[in-house]
Amino acid sequence: MKVVLAITGASGSIYGVRLARQLANDPRVELHLVLSRAGERTLFEETGIRAQELRDLASFSYPFEDIGCRLASGSYQTDAMVVAPCSIQTMSAIAHGISSNLITRAADVMLKERRKLVLMVRESPFHLGHLRSMVALSEMGAIIAPPVPGFYHKPETVLDLVDHSIHRVLDLIGCPDANARRWDVEGGGRRMGRSISGTDESSRSQPGEGAAGNDDLHLGAGDDDQ
Ligand SMILES: Cc1cc2nc3c(=O)[nH]c(=O)nc-3n(C[C@H](O)[C@H](O)[C@H](O)COP(=O)(O)O)c2cc1C
Repeated sequence: MKVVLAITGASGSIYGVRLARQLANDPRVELHLVLSRAGERTLFEETGIRAQELRDLASFSYPFEDIGCRLASGSYQTDAMVVAPCSIQTMSAIAHGISSNLITRAADVMLKERRKLVLMVRESPFHLGHLRSMVALSEMGAIIAPPVPGFYHKPETVLDLVDHSIHRVLDLIGCPDANARRWDVEGGGRRMGRSISGTDESSRSQPGEGAAGNDDLHLGAGDDDQ
């Protein structure tokens, strides 16, 4: 499948890095990459990684200003687009159809062609205008997926937290990672699933087993969408 990954200048460029690496290693995926100018800068500020390093991973990469390239046309068929991280500027532009660069144009194409668009919007706090833009985007069919960490998988490192959000986004675009940890409770309350630390989840503390137990996280069977 053809996946467009856009990295913009919001904090959290590590989400873009992890997604790029994951998608580049997935034989099902042809990765099309675009970074905004601010995205390149924030990437370097936060991770020390240069944009070229990510471009080298992608099947194809495109200049931010190239509003004439194939991603800018609805006639070029792609399957999904993820903006990770997505700045407020880019999110707001997409919400209002302002397509002055390749990222906002490609996102507009996804919306008009009714294709999957996932925005990992990163800002805090949000003002009413931000929230209204997110409502508008949701109404247009975009999926707003801010990188808000969950803790039910017992993360041990920052990357555990990052990858948890990444795995949820991969699920959303129909590219699930077989190694993703999932909340899965059998009828008897036994927790299953791959552990990030490599141990089977069932060997960890169970609900009600003292301080490490997760009484509050005991969900119904099959309810893994938190
Ligand atoms: C280190 C750094 C962190 C930033 N963090 C955020 C952020 O979390 N959210 C956001 O919307 N903008 C953030 N910005 C500001 C954006 O980079 C700025 O609004 C930029 O114009 C976005 O452009 P783009 O959408 O074309 O990438 C940050 C900038 C820098 C340099």
